[in-house]
Amino acid sequence: MTMDDGADIVFTVHTKRQELLPGIFAGTEETTTGVIRLKAMAADGVLKYPIIAVNDAQTKFMFDNRYGTGQSTLDGILRATNRLMAGNIFVVAGYGWCGRGLAMRARGLGARVVVTEVDPLKGLEAVMDGYEVLPMAEAAKVGDVFCTLTGDIHVLREEHFLAMKDGAILSNSSHFNVEIDIDALTLISTAHRPLRDFVEEYTLNNGKCIYLLAEGRLVNLAAAEGHPSAVMDMSFANQALASEFVSKNHASFQKQVYPVPAEIDKEIARLKLAAMQVDIDTLTPEQEKYLSSYDLGT
Ligand SMILES: NC(=O)c1ccc[n+]([C@@H]2O[C@H](COP(=O)([O-])OP(=O)(O)OC[C@H]3O[C@@H](n4cnc5c(N)ncnc54)[C@H](O)[C@@H]3O)[C@@H](O)[C@H]2O)c1
Repeated sequence: MTMDDGADIVFTVHTKRQELLPGIFAGTEETTTGVIRLKAMAADGVLKYPIIAVNDAQTKFMFDNRYGTGQSTLDGILRATNRLMAGNIFVVAGYGWCGRGLAMRARGLGARVVVTEVDPLKGLEAVMDGYEVLPMAEAAKVGDVFCTLTGDIHVLREEHFLAMKDGAILSNSSHFNVEIDIDALTLISTAHRPLRDFVEEYTLNNGKCIYLLAEGRLVNLAAAEGHPSAVMDMSFANQALASEFVSKNHASFQKQVYPVPAEIDKEIARLKLAAMQVDIDTLTPEQEKYLSSYDLGT
C-alpha cells in the first residue's frame, strides 16, 4: 500500500511507475490538498486503488491542521524574520482549518488579523470570530505580513504585489509553492537578493521592496520544524489504524476515497485524552435514555 502526503506517490505510480500498480492494494492520504486531488482522480475514473482520507478524520484536521499549522507556521515566520508581531497587520488567506489556527495564534501575539476568503460561510465565520475580512485587493494595501493557506493557486499575484506596502513579508503554509505567483514577482522586480536564511528581498519596479519567505514553500517545514509531535501523534495514529483497517478490508472497497471509520477517530480522541490525563464524564443510564427518546420532558 501507499502512505502519501499530497498525493505525490499516488500520482507518480499512476503516471511514471505504472508497473508498480498491480502490487498496491490500497493507500492512505495525509493532507487536504492530496485528498482533493485523489477525489478528482476518483471522479475521473482514473484512480486504480482505494484510498483512506486520513486528513478528513476529525482527530486529524481539527488538531493537526488547526493547532499544528497555527503554531508551526508562526514559528517559521518568526524564526525566519525575528519580527515583532504585536501591532502588525497579519493577512491570513483562507479561513479553513489551517487558516483558523494561524489567525487565532497571530491574534494571540498581538497582530491585527485580516482574513481573505472565497467561501461565504468561512468569510462569515471569520467576521463573527472577530477578524476583519477583506478582498485580497484591499488586504494587499494594508498588510505587513501575509500567509496563504488556501490550497489554491496564485492567491497572491502581480496586482497584489504592486499594491503592497514597502517591507511587506510574504509566506505560504499550504502544500504546494503555487499560492504566491513567484514568476510574476520575479518579472516585476528589478533586483532580487537573499537577505538572510529563508528571506529573499525583491525590489519591485515601483521602487518598493517585498520579502518572500522560504521560496514560497511551506514556511513551517522550511524555516521551522513542522508540527510538534504532541499533535502529529493523532495524525500518525490515524495513518497506522487506517492502514490496518484498509489492509484487512480492501477487498470490499471500490477505487474511491473513503473516510477513516468513526470508531477509529473516536478511539484516537479517547486515547489522546487518556495520554493527557484528562478525564471526561460518562452518560448515566437516565441520560442515555433521555438522549435517545422524544417523549421525555415534552
Ligand atoms: N503547513 C502544514 O504543515 C499543513 C498542514 C495541514 C494542511 N496543509 C495544507 O494547507 C492547505 C489548507 O488546508 P486546510 O485544511 O486549511 O484546507 P481547508 O479546505 O479547510 O481551507 C482552505 C480555505 O481556503 C479558502 N480559499 C480557497 N481559495 C481561496 C482564495 N483564492 N482566496 C482566499 N481563500 C481561498 C477555501 O474557501 C477554504 O475555506 C492545504 O494545501 C493543505 O494540504 C498544510
